Amino acid sequence: MAKGTPPTPTPPTARRSPPTTIESSRDRERLRTVVFPEHSDLAAAVAERIIEVIQRETRAKGRAVLGLATGSTPLGVYEELIRRHQAGDLDFSHVITFNLDEYYPMTPDSPHSYHRYMWENFFEHVNIAKENVHIPEGVTPRERVTEACAAYEQAIRAAGGIDFQLLGIGKTGHVGFNEPGSDATSRTRIVTLDTLTRRDAAADFFGVENVPREAITMGVATILDAKEIALLATGEHKAGIVARAVEGEISTDVAATFLQRHQSVTVYLDLPAAAELTRIKTPWILEGIEWTPAMVERSVVWLADKSGKAVLKLSARDYAEHQLSPLLAPARARRFGGSHQRPGLQSATREDSGTRQAARARARTRVLAPSG
Ligand code: F6R
Repeated sequence: MAKGTPPTPTPPTARRSPPTTIESSRDRERLRTVVFPEHSDLAAAVAERIIEVIQRETRAKGRAVLGLATGSTPLGVYEELIRRHQAGDLDFSHVITFNLDEYYPMTPDSPHSYHRYMWENFFEHVNIAKENVHIPEGVTPRERVTEACAAYEQAIRAAGGIDFQLLGIGKTGHVGFNEPGSDATSRTRIVTLDTLTRRDAAADFFGVENVPREAITMGVATILDAKEIALLATGEHKAGIVARAVEGEISTDVAATFLQRHQSVTVYLDLPAAAELTRIKTPWILEGIEWTPAMVERSVVWLADKSGKAVLKLSARDYAEHQLSPLLAPARARRFGGSHQRPGLQSATREDSGTRQAARARARTRVLAPSG
């Protein structure tokens, strides 16, 4: 659809049922994290939240200010917002946007530019006013970049600040293009892209040598000024860095960890991107989990792998040292499928060889037939 053309009304589609999420102990998580088994539910949930913010802010102050990201992760969210706009549910005429970043140098009409990405994947399909769209300019002469970055910060302040900031995460842990080394006080500026980031973009540019070495990006402090932040990640290639961002210490090595200092962040993940979170990978080391038969099986396979032993060779000490003694407890205490805390640990001090053998025998029968 051409820019500015009123959207073609399409019959409103049926509302989705509330998305299913994976709930369990969040002991280790330093950011509020939601895991969606269905990828499409993630995009719908984020879009729904953006719609709420747009409606709330336009009612309250006559405009809503969004911080937007490019890349593959938010495409489903843009599709959903377009769908809702075309269904007549959503008006963008009072929405102001600020994009996180742009490669430098980069002409806006290049197929690689984030300007082109945003217009083709989103803006062209909704009724946003061109003057309300802000994206760092990849054609600014180098000697004017500092001034242009300060003007970008000023434009955000003049709009009243960002109400809702959408973020993806790079494999280096970057948000925007805040690569390792970026600190919590950084503002919009020109940065050098990390080698890993350039390698990840190589396919789009038909070779790493064609990927720009620099970019203009909002800083960590610019991002943290937003009133609400959503960090999205999908795919198993993000699982390691997601776990670092959600469960790790705050560090300039991983810019996304600075989100832990913000009051209102939600991390939206599909299951592959959540795979390295403790609650998904080794939930049995958390308090208050439910011992289902499937979890027993997974935990024993994990223990065998970790100890480098066959399942039947695992000792009571192996179970105890990896917080898996509950598997050796009397079955009635374990209550498969129940909603109970894990039963008390069996003491490893009882490990004379006779007890060990008995424990092994119990483990063998219970682990292999965990129906008790
Ligand atoms: C894009 C941006 C980047 C991406 C990140 C993830 O505007 O700021 O931080 O969000 O590189 O990219 P995808 O979604 O392509 O994996």
